Order: sequence, then structure tokens, then C-alpha cells
Amino acid sequence: MKLKEYLERAHSIGRLKVIEEPLDVELEIPHLAYIEIKKEKPNVLLFKNPVDSYGRRYDIPVVMNLFAGFDLTETIFGKHPDRISQEIEEILHMKPPQKITDKLGTLKMLFELKNVFPKRSNKKGSCQEIIIKGNDIDLYKIPILKTWPKDAGRFITAGQIYTRSLDGNMDNLGMYRLQILDKDKLIMHWQIHKDGNHFFHDYRRAKKKMPVAIAIGGDPLYTWCGQAPLPYGIFELLLYGFIRKKPAKLVKCLTNDLYVPKDADIVIEGEVDPEEFAPEGPFGDHTGYYTPVENFPVLRVKAITMKKNPLYYATVVGKPPCEDKYMGWATERIFLPLLRTTTPDLIDYHMPENGVFHNLILAKIKPIYKGHAKQIMHAFWGVGQMSFVKHAFFVNEDAPSLTDYENITRYILNRLKPENILITEGIVDQLDHSSYEELVGGKLGVDCTGDEIEDRELDILSDKELEDKVKSLDDLVVELKQYFTDTKNPITVIKVRKNKSMYEVFKKLKNLKNHLKIAIFVDEEHNDLNNPYMLVWRITNNIDALHDIWIEEIIGIDATAKSEIDGYKRKWPEDVFCDEKTIEKLKKEGLIDVNDDFLKKFQII
Ligand SMILES: Cc1cc2nc3c(=O)[nH]c(=O)nc-3n(C[C@H](O)[C@H](O)[C@H](O)COP(=O)(O)O)c2cc1C
Repeated sequence: MKLKEYLERAHSIGRLKVIEEPLDVELEIPHLAYIEIKKEKPNVLLFKNPVDSYGRRYDIPVVMNLFAGFDLTETIFGKHPDRISQEIEEILHMKPPQKITDKLGTLKMLFELKNVFPKRSNKKGSCQEIIIKGNDIDLYKIPILKTWPKDAGRFITAGQIYTRSLDGNMDNLGMYRLQILDKDKLIMHWQIHKDGNHFFHDYRRAKKKMPVAIAIGGDPLYTWCGQAPLPYGIFELLLYGFIRKKPAKLVKCLTNDLYVPKDADIVIEGEVDPEEFAPEGPFGDHTGYYTPVENFPVLRVKAITMKKNPLYYATVVGKPPCEDKYMGWATERIFLPLLRTTTPDLIDYHMPENGVFHNLILAKIKPIYKGHAKQIMHAFWGVGQMSFVKHAFFVNEDAPSLTDYENITRYILNRLKPENILITEGIVDQLDHSSYEELVGGKLGVDCTGDEIEDRELDILSDKELEDKVKSLDDLVVELKQYFTDTKNPITVIKVRKNKSMYEVFKKLKNLKNHLKIAIFVDEEHNDLNNPYMLVWRITNNIDALHDIWIEEIIGIDATAKSEIDGYKRKWPEDVFCDEKTIEKLKKEGLIDVNDDFLKKFQII
């Protein structure tokens, strides 16, 4: 599907909002897109007149929020992601056909498989109608955004990064952000666990420069493929062909041997020098926090090519929900059959959007033997990007739907027993800030596939009564709120003005074991105890199970910001917030159509 064709479809159902006002690529455009995507039914946004901070107009419009909601994401795929999942399942479990009709069905399926392989052409594509080389290369002429006030600069946020292994045998498509360093230089943020980075290691060892092509725009499905966590060595555009039932059409780059989608809007060709690194970041990331400054390799731009009338597609990541919620939803559904190849008794799984993907996963399984849930936990923690999962809850096949949050939580809390909690260590996402050292951290797996807890004597108090008791134990307690008091394991969220290790407070809390079972500590700053959506986001982000969970007579969870007093030696990051002046200006111009409660609910300012 051509990008323009998709925009026409969005327009035809009233879901394309065109903004004619000149708006700054620094903060104004991204802030509007960030607010828009949080709405129940978000719109695709087309900014016709992006300008820089001096008011200079760009020639290229900016398009954002292509994955605007479940329905439009489905439009991009051409069908519901569950249907694609079913098709994958059928291929994986293909049986020798018995009847003539089966034979025809199998033949059709096999015939369609020929489409998975991209078609490469050495002719020019529409993405090469304009060619910019040498001194004319200037990344600042593209309306690349600065998405957050404390970002180090302007970043390409929705680029499709095409690379090839040193031996030429494998192609890869990944989605990694790039920071502008100069008019012809970018910093490539491929994290250590990612395939593009694996290829780079080989080039580095061989002391060779690595060719890279960044495609922007074209069929929106390419961008989704870029973030799809396919195993190392499998080219993501095979999945494109499988979904579209048409091969991806690629054309050769002008300055290297890589191939990019013919219909991409903009292509940046370049080379990563294994000897040249530069500090990247800070950047307001999809965790909802700023990621710290770290060295990443520099990419020198060799050519920029584009269509005659290109659009610049960008995304903004931050606190949930963002556009990656919808990309992640499709990924979750489509990857279920692939996950099942290593965990056949997995019935379903779900990553709630406020758990920012790997911070929280719910899995429904059909346990057959003792320790089955633990076996699947270890499988998750050992398989590709699933190994980033920090907190996993396993439920039995009789559990409510995994997206029925109220009832699934109740189900879990009625079965949660200390002996069924596994805490271990494994790799964590490079962006994770909760782990006490980089790249490795705690893992929590909870097996709730068993029976409900037998009757448990609990004397439930009102929030006020319990708050008075807890305050009398320690004066750093500010406020508390209880959730799920009708279950065997009520959750008490305690807001604190932290000045010491929370374990000291936890020890005292054990005296109240008749009144509470799970106590979660959160900081006074930026937390609203009446906003469970954002509490789940912060709590699952901020805990490292190895250090921050105590299971004694009660369960204690420390979801506060950590520092030296906790033995945490890294720098705790800041939350991302929109710039208040920019929001005020956009409000005055009538461009923000949500009220202050909305801004508060999602902790936007
Ligand atoms: C909006 C968005 C931005 C992303 N930015 C990065 C990034 O800067 N660096 C990175 O390593 N992964 C990033 N990712 C995740 C990767 O795209 C994802 O892990 C992908 O599977 C990597 O592909 P690979 O394993 O082929 O390298 C991002 C994902 C999304 C949805």
C-alpha cells in the first residue's frame, strides 16, 4: 500500500487531520502528535508547513501517527493481526493433504509463499527521483524533529535501517533512532542486543566500514517490519511479503550494494565507521524516561535520495500510550504462533500497554506437569527479545481474558503465593534503568496456574484507618490507597517522601500483616494514587525484582527512584514531560482540543 493511498483511506473515514499552521519541528509538532495518539480514536496527522525555530519553512511536510488506533493499524495490515497469526500457524503445522480440496489449499499456500522473497531491481525507484550528493547533503533540510525538551538534539525516529552482514549472506531491517550530529553525520542508536549491532561487531572486528541505508516512509508496513523482533538472520521483509501476499519491491542504493523499498519517501545512504563514536542522547524514550548519554557509532551520509514530493514520517515515543502501542499490539498477535514453537502449551499472552512491552507480560498456559509455568518462564527469558521481559504472570486456561484487567488481576491476586514466585537474573533491555547494573537485572515470574488460596484471615481497614497506622510507624509516609481489597492479596500503594532505604519501612510494616499483604512504595513526586494506569507504568518500570522485592510475612515492592541509599550507583533518569510554554502556545492557537484533566491523566505536563 502506498503511503499516499493509506492517507487517502484515513481521510475518507475522517481520520486524517491536516494542519496548515506553520509549526516548529522542535517540540510543537511532536507535542501535538503525542497528545493526539493518546486519544481513544486518534487521527493521523499531516503537518503541511513545518518550520524550524527561526521560522524557516521546510519543503517537506511531516506525517505522524500512521498507526493511529487499532482500526487504522488493521487497515495498514489489510486484515486483523489475528488472521495473520492464523496463517502463520497454518504454515507451521502444514500436514500432507488427504483430499483433493486439501491438496488445492496446500498448493495455494505454497504458491503464495513465493511472494515472501523481496524482488530486487537495479533500475531506479521513485525514491530516487531526487538525488543529493557531496556538499549538497544537508540533513537540516529535512524536517527532522526534536521530540522532548531535554533531548540532545533532533532525531530520526521512524527510520527503516537496512544493513547486510559482512559475509553478504544476511540482510536485516531494524528500527533504530538516529541523532543528527552534523549536516552529513548521524549517530546510530542500535542497542547491543539488536541484529544491526551484531552485524556491526563483525565489521568492527574486520576494521571495515559498514554500509547502511535508512529508508523513511513508503508503505507503512515497512516501518512495522523494522520493529518486528524476528530471529537473527531472518530478513524482516520476508514477513512483509507474507503479510501483503506480494513481494517487497526493492531498488539498489546509489552508493552501496544495499537495497531499499522502491516507494520509500526518503532514503539516506551512508557508512558507519567502526572507529568513530560519539555521545548519543539524552533522548526521551519509550520507557517514558530520558535515556542517558552513551557512545554510539557515527554514520557518514554519502547520498540522500527522495521522491519528488516526499513526506517525512516520524513518531514520538514517551509515556504510554504512544504510536508504538498499536505497532506492539500487532507484533504481539502476529508473534504468538512463533512463540508457541518453543512453548507449545502457551495458549495466549498479552503485554499491557502501560507495562511498556517487556516490563509486564501475562501468559495463559495449559499446565500439564509440576513446574510447567517455570519452564515457560525460562523459555521466555532465553528467547530473542522476549528475554527482556521483567515481570511475567502465568495463569491457567480457565482464567478470564488477559485483556480484562480487573478480572485477571483478581484471578492472579487470589492465587499469588510466595512459594510460586520465582526471582532470578537475566538480560534486560539496554534502556532499562531499574537494574542495578547495565544490561543484566532481576526477573520476576509468578505461577498463578494453581488453585485459589484457602481462606485467609485479613482485617481490611479503610484507607484512612490504615494510613494512620502506617504513618504512626514511619513519618516519611505521605498517603496510601488500597486496591483489590476483595481478594486474598490486597495491594496497598504507599506514597513516601523518601529519605532512607524502603526496606527499613517494610520491616516495620510487617507489624500490620493482618491488614495488608502487598505493599508497594512510590515516590511522592509525580505519582497520583488514584491513577492506576500510570501507577502500573511507573511501578513495572522502576523495579528490579532482585533488589526491590521482599517476600517475608508480607510482600514489599520498592518502586521509588533509587540512589546511593539503596546501593544503586547508576544515575536515575528523569520522566519525560512536554514543555509547558509550548503547550500554552498551542492551546492559544486552538490546536489542543483536550482539557487539563487529560493532560494530567497521562502525566503530559
Ligand atoms: C518507535 C520505536 C523506536 C525504536 N528505537 C530503537 C532504537 O533506537 N534502538 C534500538 O536498538 N531499538 C529500537 N527499537 C526497537 C527495535 O526496532 C526492535 O527491537 C527491532 O526488533 C530490532 O530489530 P533487529 O533485531 O533486527 O535489530 C525501536 C522500536 C520502536 C517501535
